[in-house]
Amino acid sequence: MTIDLSVSVGGIRLKNPVIAGAAEHLIHAEGIRAALSTGVGAVVVKSNNEVEASKDQLERSEYTLLDEHWRQVPWNDAAPRSVTLACRSGMSPLPFDQWLEQAVRLDREAKKQDAYVIASLILGALEPAVAMARQIEQAGIRVMEFNVGVPYGSQTAKGNVATELSTEGIREQVSAIRSAVSIPVWVKTSGQSERVPALAGAAFESGADAVIMAGRLLGFLPDPETQKPLFGTSLGVGGFWHLPITCHWLAMTRKALGPDRPLIGINGAQTGSDVLRMMLAGASAVEIASSIMYAGFPALARAVEEVSGYFIDRGENAAAIIGRAADEHRTFMQMPRGDGNWRNYVPADALPASEG
Ligand SMILES: Cc1cc2nc3c(=O)[nH]c(=O)nc-3n(C[C@H](O)[C@H](O)[C@H](O)COP(=O)(O)O)c2cc1C
Repeated sequence: MTIDLSVSVGGIRLKNPVIAGAAEHLIHAEGIRAALSTGVGAVVVKSNNEVEASKDQLERSEYTLLDEHWRQVPWNDAAPRSVTLACRSGMSPLPFDQWLEQAVRLDREAKKQDAYVIASLILGALEPAVAMARQIEQAGIRVMEFNVGVPYGSQTAKGNVATELSTEGIREQVSAIRSAVSIPVWVKTSGQSERVPALAGAAFESGADAVIMAGRLLGFLPDPETQKPLFGTSLGVGGFWHLPITCHWLAMTRKALGPDRPLIGINGAQTGSDVLRMMLAGASAVEIASSIMYAGFPALARAVEEVSGYFIDRGENAAAIIGRAADEHRTFMQMPRGDGNWRNYVPADALPASEG
């Protein structure tokens, strides 16, 4: 039996479900080509928008990896899987025309490899975003991402980037882009919300072809030695620990919107097994972004290999497992009673002597 590793997501077919997600390693052609050569289904380039100050924001960026004691550890491929990445970042430093020309050229190269290079816009102001989306389509890009959930909205200058937390805002923004272009639009939403499924629903109702969930969280880390905040500001934080949160949102969104709304998982995936976990929670494809900045492109190649090996070993097509675990999700009250189970999980001296 030939195993089909392809998945269909948001208007296109990907040769496999692994996507290289946007960050600084995908600014230049060299990085984008290196990502394509790992065999991923698609590469999302570092985002752009019209706001000069958000390019300036990149020049104020900081990045670090933190261990479980919140101590900084070296930024390289020996970093343990358990690190938290804390940073502040900005837009692509490339001027829009140059950025677009590069993306178009690389998307043509990607097509020959049965892959995609996806242009990504981050919402600054809506009118220029619509104009840029039109230019992206006219230039020949086949798919675009529209990120309305960058974590830094509250921390940078007003108007640089948007952290959209209202369904009304999502409707307005996504409808405007939808009516401007006919290529598939994948909308990336914030994870800093208790309403992730509602935000996704609003995006789909307004014409999104897929929803990518979910954007990173904000954190603030004081140092007991200096008594100052790490890097002076709040920071975007992410790491392996976000995976169950992403999977929860994927499963809840699938439950709320049904299995026909294509979801893309992001935030916390580093390996092939992580990609599979997000697929089982309901993702049709999964993006791996920040860990590649320090672990390097071989980590992406390993993820593609692991995912392919899994389906070949099990004799199953990739699309077959999407949402399989999510569909087994139950509420607490549907679970059988295990009388007194909790007693096994507290210190013995927390229980009355008669029970200890
Ligand atoms: C340094 C850095 C730069 C990023 N730049 C972008 C970007 O340009 N566009 C975007 O949509 N997301 C950007 N992101 C968010 C990632 O694409 C991704 O959503 C997030 O890091 C969570 O996924 P991960 O756990 O695989 O890193 C960036 C993240 C980091 C850490």
